[in-house]
Amino acid sequence: MKGELSTKMPSNQSKPPKTQDELKREAAQAAVSLIESGMVVGLGHGTTALHAIHYLGQRMQTGELRNIRAIPCSRQAEDAARDLGIQLTDFREAPLIDITIDGADEVDADFNVIKGGGGALLREKVVAQNTRREVIVVDESKLSPRLGTHWAVPIETLPFACHPVTRYLENLGGNVTQRNKPAGKPFYSEQGNYILDSNFGPITDPYHLAAALSTRAGIFDHGLFLGLVHDVVVASQTGVRFLHRPC
Ligand code: A5P
Repeated sequence: MKGELSTKMPSNQSKPPKTQDELKREAAQAAVSLIESGMVVGLGHGTTALHAIHYLGQRMQTGELRNIRAIPCSRQAEDAARDLGIQLTDFREAPLIDITIDGADEVDADFNVIKGGGGALLREKVVAQNTRREVIVVDESKLSPRLGTHWAVPIETLPFACHPVTRYLENLGGNVTQRNKPAGKPFYSEQGNYILDSNFGPITDPYHLAAALSTRAGIFDHGLFLGLVHDVVVASQTGVRFLHRPC
């Protein structure tokens, strides 16, 4: 991966392989070490980001970190922060976030990512666009040679526009599935919108696709996060790597 900084820890061959959740925890814990007292922190959504929120809470409870204020990407993050006593703020009080720690579904070698598997992509992107240092925490299964290889692009869509937007996405080459809850009812984002998971296969030009998605009425946002990520923290069976995007 481009911009790689080596911070590998030694492996221990005698232990059983770590589970995906253990790797997510390791990536999250390593990323939280980047947070310093006094920072405004963006709190991401999803299982890996939730681990990061817990490690942040731990560092605050031990007194290692002080004067942290946080902006959550979702109600899940907000609730976790409240439970841990992390002070919340907003963009009126804190226009620029110092560091955000968030998960991702797929990460390419150029630090572009697909997000939104948890349905929080719109707030996640607002937070990412207003963050000095966007740090993505993943286990190694999320690394990909090309976005779209393993994951569909989530598209947050006005319910009224669901059918025309679906046709539009199909014309762009997407294989579209409206996201449902396990019970079969439509999944609604926290903003009350549908998510259309649009499988384009490996995406040759993500910027071109993002431009086509951004101009269509009825689409609020999409899960392509391009040029927004500064660091990726990857946990694998052989250790944790900090990858920094070259300037
Ligand atoms: C939330 O909308 C997503 O962007 C998540 O950050 C992403 O789906 C990764 O989730 P996990 O950390 O749960 O794998």
